[in-house]
Amino acid sequence: MKTRSGRLELLSFFLVGCVFFLLMAGGLVTSHDAGLAVPDWPLSYGTWMPPMVGNIFWEHGHRMIAGFVALLTLFTAVCIQRSPEPGWIKKLAWTGVVLVTLQALLGGMTVLMLLPPPVSISHACLGQTFFCLTIALAYYLSPASRKSGLQGEDPLLVRKLMRLTLLTFLFVYLQLILGAVVRHTGKAVYEHMGFALAVVAHVVLVQLAVSRLTDARSPLKPAARILAALTLLQIVLGAGAFVFTQMIQRQGPAAPLHEVVFASAHHTNGALVIGLAALIFVMSRPAPFGSHRLKAAV
Ligand code: HEM
Ligand code: HEM
Repeated sequence: MKTRSGRLELLSFFLVGCVFFLLMAGGLVTSHDAGLAVPDWPLSYGTWMPPMVGNIFWEHGHRMIAGFVALLTLFTAVCIQRSPEPGWIKKLAWTGVVLVTLQALLGGMTVLMLLPPPVSISHACLGQTFFCLTIALAYYLSPASRKSGLQGEDPLLVRKLMRLTLLTFLFVYLQLILGAVVRHTGKAVYEHMGFALAVVAHVVLVQLAVSRLTDARSPLKPAARILAALTLLQIVLGAGAFVFTQMIQRQGPAAPLHEVVFASAHHTNGALVIGLAALIFVMSRPAPFGSHRLKAAV
C-alpha cells in the first residue's frame, strides 16, 4: 500500500501531466486562431456545453481542461494542507491555486476584451509559470529532493552551478516572453531568434558545469543532457514555425495544418524546455529555508 507521502507524490505528478496537456491545448487554441470562437465567458454561448463544432472544439475544450486542472490544483493543495508537510510546501501549493485562478481570469479577460496582445501575452506566460510551479512542487514532494545530491561536491562548483542554473532559467523565461510577443503581435521576431543564442550558450554552460560533478549518478547529469536535446529540437521547430508563420503567406482564413503543427510543437516543446530549466534550477540548490521534509508515515 502507498504511504500518504507516496500518494501526494503521485497526485503532484498527475497534476504536472495535466497542466502540460492544458498548455498544449492552449497552444492549439492560439494556433487555430480559435481564441474568439466562443464570444462569452464564463459560460460558452450561454451554456456549460455548447456543440463542439469547428473552432469551438479547441476553445471550449481548452476551457473544460482548464476547469478540471483548476479543481485538481485546489484538491492537491487541500491534501497537502492536511498532510504533515512543512509550511513552505503548503504555501507553494496554495500559490499554485492563486496562479491558476489568475490564469483563468486572464483567459476570460482576453476573450471578453477581444484578445488584446498584453492580456494574451500575460496569459501565455503565466500558464508556463504555473507549469514551473507544479514541477517544483512535484520535485519537493518526491524522495529525490531529500537526497540533495550535491553534498561532497566542490563548494565553488556548487555555487557556480546555482548561479548558472538561475541565469539559464531566467534566459529561457525571457525567451518565452519574446516568443509570446512574436506569437501575439508578429513583432520582435529577430530579437527572439537572436536571443536563442544566449539560451543555447547557457544550456551548454550548464552541461559543462554538471559534467564536472564527481557523483556519476547525479540526476543533474541526465537532466542537463535532456535540456540540451530539447533546446536543439526547439531551434529546429522554431525554424519551421518561422518559415510557416512569418515567411509563407496564408492562403485563406484558416491556419493550414503545417503551420499549426510547427507553431504548436514549438510552443509545447518550449514548455518542456522552460519546465526542465526550472527543475534543474530547483535541483541545484537545497530545499527552501533549509528545512527538510517530514517523512509522513502512512
Ligand atoms: C486555468 C488554466 C489555464 C491555463 C494554464 C491556460 C493556458 C493557456 C496557454 C498556454 C495558451 C496558449 C498561449 C499561446 O499560444 O501563446 C492559452 C490560450 C488561450 N486561453 Fe488559456 N489557459 C487557462 C485557462 C483559460 C480559461 C479559463 C480561458 C477562458 C476563456 C482561456 C482562454 C484562452 C484563450 C482565448 C486562448 C487563446 C489566446 C489567443 O489566441 O490570443 N484559458 N491558454
Ligand atoms: C531555445 C530557444 C527558444 C525557445 C525557448 C523558444 C520558445 C518559444 C516559445 C515558448 C514560443 C511561444 C510563446 C507563447 O507561448 O506564446 C515561441 C514562439 C516562436 N518562436 Fe521560439 N523559441 C526558441 C527559439 C526560436 C528560434 C531559433 C526561432 C526561429 C528560427 C523561433 C521562432 C519562433 C516563432 C516564429 C514563434 C511564433 C510562432 C507563432 O506565431 O505561432 N524560436 N518560441
